[in-house]
Amino acid sequence: GIDIKTLRGEAGVITLDRGYKNTGSCESAITFLDGEKGILRYRGYAIEDLAEKADFLEVAYLLIFGELPNKEQLEKFHHDIKEESQVDEEVKKILDGFPKAAHPMGVLSSLTSALTAFNPSSVDVSSEEDMYNAIVKILGKFPVLAAWTLRKKKSLPLNYGDDSLGYVENLHKMMFEKPGKKYDVDPAVIEALDKLLILHADHEQNCSTSTVRMVGSSHAGLFASLSAGVSALWGPLHGGANQAVIEMLEGIKEDGGDTKKFMEKAKDKDDPFRLMGFGHRVYKNFDPRAKIIKKSADEVLGQLGVEDPVLEIAKGLEKEALEDDYFVKRKLYPNVDFYSGIIYRALGIPVEMFTVMFALGRLPGWIAQWREMRMKKEPIGRPRQIYVGENHREFTDLEKR
Ligand code: ACO
Repeated sequence: GIDIKTLRGEAGVITLDRGYKNTGSCESAITFLDGEKGILRYRGYAIEDLAEKADFLEVAYLLIFGELPNKEQLEKFHHDIKEESQVDEEVKKILDGFPKAAHPMGVLSSLTSALTAFNPSSVDVSSEEDMYNAIVKILGKFPVLAAWTLRKKKSLPLNYGDDSLGYVENLHKMMFEKPGKKYDVDPAVIEALDKLLILHADHEQNCSTSTVRMVGSSHAGLFASLSAGVSALWGPLHGGANQAVIEMLEGIKEDGGDTKKFMEKAKDKDDPFRLMGFGHRVYKNFDPRAKIIKKSADEVLGQLGVEDPVLEIAKGLEKEALEDDYFVKRKLYPNVDFYSGIIYRALGIPVEMFTVMFALGRLPGWIAQWREMRMKKEPIGRPRQIYVGENHREFTDLEKR
């Protein structure tokens, strides 16, 4: 529920809105979301149309620059990104310093921030051209960093992409190419991956996007702002949910598959367990992305001939939740991440990389929001608070305490 108070303190009237549930932080022309009706549009285009008809790079261009690109614009954009798809050799040393067991999101966040050191010109972006250069740089380098985090985990040699491939196929190649083997991929895999990235590409002022805007509002560089966004996304209440969902579904399977038992646990207020992948801060109706993903999960698993018992458990949970008073009353529906992990797993993406995949998808959204904020010359973000601590106290010397 929304819990807003206006309090009169010494500094005048302050609105207290925990978790900013009903507080707008900006005006934005990027993403439209109607949580009551379950509508999501990027720059006015329905998410259903974009997922079906556009590819990820077109959507990235649309989000960042406001219009669908024509062929020439798209080619130039892709060309400029490819020109920037090398990472300084020294970055490999930083990656080398991380333990193999490190969570990929921590590694990705650190490497993204470290890129600033090797690309100092990306920080001081006073013109649109500076911004464009920083944007194509990160769109070129971020997939390399993401792929390398995975390769390090799997003890695979670090590689670079292939300029003849599309943006998403190239990302896939960098992640999965095996030494001494010719890279080959089922087009159904690339199509599914492309769609998932599109569905994650923006979602207005969510936690990680607000973080990117907040950090960027101090005029810290784009890469530092994005690095903070990666950290925000990492948490299980946000992007980390896709990993948490599959772990939960596996847990239910190993426990014997009794979904009812876990439904009861989720409803028990003394039990910290929540049904991961259910509920959303803004959607109080079906998450439109969840609908597309559920269909896609069925198609992809069918096309790839993958049988995953966890998909059946997921469908069972969804069905039960839709008929359960607790979930119905609170309008808790499956969110985008309820089914995404099942597809990622069918595509051969390891569980601990799921949130990295989300970050790859969200990258254009973060960039678009950062660019919009800088173009509009938004002021530094700085919320207020209601002070509830001690009043003035006399200092007591250490030996007298
Ligand atoms: N399982 C059980 N109960 C839930 C769940 C859940 N998944 N989600 C919310 N509730 C209950 C709460 O306990 C609360 O009940 P109450 O009114 O009796 O106290 C009520 O529903 C409202 O929930 P809040 O936590 O107040 O809602 P909020 O908007 O703060 O949280 C969130 C939204 C974080 C997504 C929450 O639903 C949740 O934790 N879901 C599970 C994690 C998840 O799937 N996160 C992914 C979000 S989507 C994304 O980032 C792409």
